[in-house]
Amino acid sequence: MEVKGVVLVTGAGGGIGRAVAQRMASLGADVLVCADLSLDAVEETATLCRNIHPPRDPGCFKVAAHQLDVRDEASVDGLITQVAKTHGRIDVLVNTAGFGAANQTPIRDMSLADWRSLDEVHNIGCFLLTRAALRIMDGQDAVASVPTANDRPTRGAIVILTSLASEGAFLGVGNYIAAKHAVKGMVQTAAIENAARGIRVNAVAPSYVSGPMMDQFLESSPEVKKALLGDLPMGRLVKPSEIADAVAFLASPASSYVNGHTLVVDGGASLALSNTPFEGRS
Ligand SMILES: NC(=O)c1ccc[n+]([C@@H]2O[C@H](COP(=O)([O-])OP(=O)(O)OC[C@H]3O[C@@H](n4cnc5c(N)ncnc54)[C@H](O)[C@@H]3O)[C@@H](O)[C@H]2O)c1
Repeated sequence: MEVKGVVLVTGAGGGIGRAVAQRMASLGADVLVCADLSLDAVEETATLCRNIHPPRDPGCFKVAAHQLDVRDEASVDGLITQVAKTHGRIDVLVNTAGFGAANQTPIRDMSLADWRSLDEVHNIGCFLLTRAALRIMDGQDAVASVPTANDRPTRGAIVILTSLASEGAFLGVGNYIAAKHAVKGMVQTAAIENAARGIRVNAVAPSYVSGPMMDQFLESSPEVKKALLGDLPMGRLVKPSEIADAVAFLASPASSYVNGHTLVVDGGASLALSNTPFEGRS
């Protein structure tokens, strides 16, 4: 699998974004632009990508790091315009920027501020990024992004991180659930609006991803560990590199006829959850 051209990864200072950026570097991106609210974190990611194994020829592989606030229209439009102006086009946008709910609160007790913070970073953030990227992609020539796909020219591919939270509901995090459902609806609409122009828009929906926060939570007590892993058919969390694999597929010509799709990467967890009401009845 190859991903060529100009690739922009947002949230690239975080666990999933960093793994995605590294995967894009190793799959052959010509230009990799990493952006995040935290400039320090995204510069660290850019350094890791420059030093990727096997080594890339620095003459053919450019890596840049930028600060970005996906909630801010001027910040998003400014970055997208700058990337297109500097590198000529944007072939792939992957958005992983965001955060989860800060606490568990039922909707009847939730503050507007808590609701709005998740809406802004996910719903508004994904809208602003997708809109800005679509405007650039729509105006650029369709190309065969890898020689093996020269019968399937594309203007661009967009991949957005949703979550199992876009596929159902969990108690106490209605702000996260609603924001991720909104993002899924935006992905589906953008997908059908732009399909005829050769632009695909898809989503990846992970279950719990391994990383410092989740790993610490998992080890906080044997009960927590048992309950959490008990819900997961594979008995472990998903690794960021496994999410990067799913993103890479949707960003690459290997998925040239996949559009408006949410690729759930949960080891089968949502299937098991949907069977819960029937437990003990047979
Ligand atoms: N970690 C999980 O278990 C999990 C599960 C399902 C879905 N997701 C989703 O995957 C995505 C990435 O999650 P992660 O685990 O990598 O989280 P993370 O916290 O490791 O990384 C998120 C990154 O987004 C950046 N960010 C936050 N707000 C931003 C903003 N306003 N503008 C630009 N950047 C911003 C952060 O600085 C951080 O580097 C999120 O959309 C999250 O909802 C995560």
